[in-house]
Amino acid sequence: MTNNNPIGLFDSGIGGTSIWKEIHELMPNENTIYLADSKNAPYGQKSKEEIIHLSNKNTEFLLNQNCKIIVVACNTATTNAIKELRAKYQVPFIGIEPAIKPAALHSKTQTIGILATQGTLNSELFHQTAQQFQDTKIIEQIGHGLVPLIEKGKINSPQIKELLNNYLQPMIEANIDYLVLGCSHYPYLLPQIKKILPKHIKIIDSGEAVAKQTKNILSEKNNLNQESHQPKNIFYTNANPTVLEKILKHNYPVIKKDF
Ligand code: DGL
Repeated sequence: MTNNNPIGLFDSGIGGTSIWKEIHELMPNENTIYLADSKNAPYGQKSKEEIIHLSNKNTEFLLNQNCKIIVVACNTATTNAIKELRAKYQVPFIGIEPAIKPAALHSKTQTIGILATQGTLNSELFHQTAQQFQDTKIIEQIGHGLVPLIEKGKINSPQIKELLNNYLQPMIEANIDYLVLGCSHYPYLLPQIKKILPKHIKIIDSGEAVAKQTKNILSEKNNLNQESHQPKNIFYTNANPTVLEKILKHNYPVIKKDF
């Protein structure tokens, strides 16, 4: 494995590009390969077995492209499959989990909200983390319907606005002061969410922390790319590339491939 091998990332679709952006900003020198498994999105309602199966498939695709580290840029895949991935493959894995800890530690109302998929909120890993904060009331809300709309590019649609209103109003009434975005698709809804939430409610996600963790692990292993060449950033999707291209502002080519 050489230092200029790419960092591999995968998600059920386009959402993990929110993590890719953080990684690219922190380590602009690194080559990256991003895999959007949009054909199989959403992962949120699938069984643990299905999520493990899809995560294995995505990992093998990235390993065949010689990735030196794999970022599971999907909370649902991380919370359901990262243990199995780490047991099966030699490569280091970085996962993304909802940022309950910083929200619970800083909350003054001791009430926080979390918006995530069914798969994440029902996972053992999520329950284990949530249990560590018994003094904090955690209001869990499944973001039913959000990911399919985001995948269709309907980010600013009235449908999204209505769903978000339904999901967030009860949290506002319950006096949350932190909202945790527990799905890598949701940072794309920030402008909409900010219109609904009162200003004092802080919104957090795990993107920046994941990027820092990826850098730390690569640095520990002496595996950061030292070459100052123009890095290659490659994006693959197994569905219509239009929305992914748009989300990347047409700055990067998107390759359509069956995987
Ligand atoms: N982006 C994903 C996550 O972070 C998965 C969404 C889905 O496919 O349901 O959970």
